[in-house]
Amino acid sequence: MAITAILSALAQEQQGLLSELQNARQVWRAGRGFWLGNLHGQPVILGLSRIGKVAAATTATVLIEAFAAERIVFTGVAGALGVDVQVGDVVVATEFAQHDMDASPLFPRFEIPLYGKLLFACDSQLTALLVTASGATLSEMDAGIVNAQLAVRPTVHQGLIVSGDSFVSTAAAANDLKLRMRDAGMAPLAVEMEGAAVAQVCHDYGVPFAAVRTISDRADEHAAADFQHFVTHVASRYALGIVDRLMRALQAT
Ligand code: ADE
Repeated sequence: MAITAILSALAQEQQGLLSELQNARQVWRAGRGFWLGNLHGQPVILGLSRIGKVAAATTATVLIEAFAAERIVFTGVAGALGVDVQVGDVVVATEFAQHDMDASPLFPRFEIPLYGKLLFACDSQLTALLVTASGATLSEMDAGIVNAQLAVRPTVHQGLIVSGDSFVSTAAAANDLKLRMRDAGMAPLAVEMEGAAVAQVCHDYGVPFAAVRTISDRADEHAAADFQHFVTHVASRYALGIVDRLMRALQAT
């Protein structure tokens, strides 16, 4: 049976999954603790990506090299960039780019040098399962859990997520990022700090990868406070609901 690695950005998101893990045992590699066990009868490894592209790339490499992970699913939070993306929504990535990659004039801006591409695509089958799992989780979730003032129910989006080694925390920085990416023909829905690195490692090894990010903030001046609140009170429930449904779906395939 294929070993599925579930990578979380934050310990709070891993907490709920850990409480459901059967036959759990912890193994250390590269200064990181990984949890091995079973979820819905499937062998899984739970790992923390840590923060930023390099840390996430190391974690993904260890999952593949040391633990023989055969697919990697990332759950985390992100800042919204898309106009209709709001706090509490879920974005399932179809592809990833690095918004801080710039080796121009040697290579076009945003192109990953020596790969000849700007984007790394996610596995379409795993991504489709994540979309279904996310929709079902949101429809059962009380909208008030995110924000009592939320006017509309949270929704699931699919599209480009961008990663870079900065927490985007001003509207000006978010706008600037969007404009730069638009010039290169890209319209990102969300920004975070790890996904594109994991996507590149998975591409290198030929390991299927999919990612889901819950929107914790709007990458503006309120981002830090919104992020802290969301991570403490909401994120783990999303992660648990989505991963639990995904593992049940994988069990059935
Ligand atoms: N992850 C969650 N919110 C983010 C933001 N505003 N910038 C970068 N990464 C994030």
